[in-house]
Amino acid sequence: MKVLKWIGVVVLVIALVVGGFLAYVAITGVPTYDTQKIDLKVDITPERVAHGRQLAAGLCMHCHLDPETKLLTGHELIDLPPEFGRAFSRNITQHPEKGIGKWTDGDLAWLLRTGVHPHTGRYLPPWMPKFPHMADEDVASIIAWLRSDDPLLAASPVDNRESEPTFFAVFLTHIAFKPFDYPTKPIAYPDTTNTVEYGRYLATAVYDCYQCHSADFAKNDPLDPPKSEGFFGGGMAMPDASGVNVTCPNITSHPKSGVGRWTREQFIHALATGIRPDGTPMRYPMVRFNTVNDHALGSIYDYLMTVPAIDNTVAKPELPASYASKGEELFVKKGCNSCHGNNGSGIASLMLADRKYPDDSVLVDVIKEQQRYNPDSFMPHFGEILSDADLQLLAAHVRKLCNAGGSVAHN
Ligand code: HEC
Ligand code: HEC
Ligand code: HEC
Repeated sequence: MKVLKWIGVVVLVIALVVGGFLAYVAITGVPTYDTQKIDLKVDITPERVAHGRQLAAGLCMHCHLDPETKLLTGHELIDLPPEFGRAFSRNITQHPEKGIGKWTDGDLAWLLRTGVHPHTGRYLPPWMPKFPHMADEDVASIIAWLRSDDPLLAASPVDNRESEPTFFAVFLTHIAFKPFDYPTKPIAYPDTTNTVEYGRYLATAVYDCYQCHSADFAKNDPLDPPKSEGFFGGGMAMPDASGVNVTCPNITSHPKSGVGRWTREQFIHALATGIRPDGTPMRYPMVRFNTVNDHALGSIYDYLMTVPAIDNTVAKPELPASYASKGEELFVKKGCNSCHGNNGSGIASLMLADRKYPDDSVLVDVIKEQQRYNPDSFMPHFGEILSDADLQLLAAHVRKLCNAGGSVAHN
């Protein structure tokens, strides 16, 4: 009896502690932290601006580029799993109030490194990436680009919308996601001739491929990425812009379930074009790393081949079984809706396409070779896989969506 009584007391104490902690989380919301003024002045050189833009195309634009303004004024992150709530990226144009016009170089470095807002001390939720291991030179390049005269960053007074994290997301910011310390020592650029080392840097400190391609966001270890659960073994599912759940594949060297079945050339090609060796396009949120050069992509492959192989075959996305038209079927099966949503808006809007490209042959060409019209867009190179007949059907479907939508709408 005594033993049972003690167990009862222990359970009660645990319940009180847990209950108290949950109440504390609910009351305090996303935690705030002390901030530090960083003394940094980045020299803005043309090389840095160009390199920074290249990094930002793969690291920032898909989240901060607003399909309506075509500037980095922010938008809702529609691929956030619903259990995390709603998140809005922010206006990072050079506008002094709405954007980052008044931020110092040190403020920017502090935020990118630690994940803590330099003015309010608020922790930026997990969906804004942090770069604790990025080389100083890459951080400097991103800052130089943010300060540059790139038209995407031209000051724009678009209002910010506050994110609405769920209790669960706030809870995670108390237990699983913590800010990183600002580095106390310089972080050198890796030796780019050592492809395994360079690839490791790109995959774990810059493009953070492991963050999506491991078992579970909450079990990733950003301070020591190889300690993340199921490192590069895939398995996490995330909704694309049409609501279809897409599972991140296993990209370890496993010869059957990983990318060990691909050659280095096939890997480079898939990442650069968005088209896999079997001719299937990769759905969003995987984006084509269009601004990353072949040496860098090949280095990522070389590194992945050194990561312990995991045997884990992931499920293919489940797509509807029947369609209203052949055009709609192609729009879904070729992954167009993974970015443009079922109604043609999504993370990149098609709503103006009908008016912008009245000539059918031009609209077809825009779908076929978007990269020529818009070098920054991460739309796959569809010219490689779509026949002329398919392109015609898709162009007709795009026009139909424009007519149904009428205005530039989100989601
Ligand atoms: C996965 C989406 C995502 C990516 C990628 C991303 N951001 Fe963000 N960013 C966000 C979100 C969401 C917020 C707002 C978080 C909040 O406060 O709720 C944000 C906030 C910011 C802020 C703070 C602005 C302010 O007014 O508080 C800056 C600066 C910023 N991001 C810059 C960048 C840069 C530079 C990159 C690329 C290196 C980048 N972001 C990549 C989603 C993203
Ligand atoms: C935002 C999450 C995210 C990030 C970051 C990301 N991926 Fe992916 N990746 C995905 C998803 C989701 C898919 C599945 C797409 C599909 O099945 O259509 C995918 C597919 C792939 C594939 C195809 C594998 C196969 O078996 O079909 C490769 C290769 C790949 N990613 C490599 C990378 C590399 C390398 C990086 C970093 C440079 C990276 N990914 C970053 C989400 C991501
Ligand atoms: C990985 C994401 C992604 C996928 C998949 C994708 N697109 Fe795009 N698409 C984009 C982006 C980004 C843009 C550039 C939007 C901009 O300039 O604002 C774009 C632009 C376009 C445009 C031009 C819009 C304009 O106003 O200039 C058309 C048309 C288009 N896409 C059709 C398609 C079709 C059809 C498919 C499928 C065969 C498809 N897209 C698949 C991301 C994607």
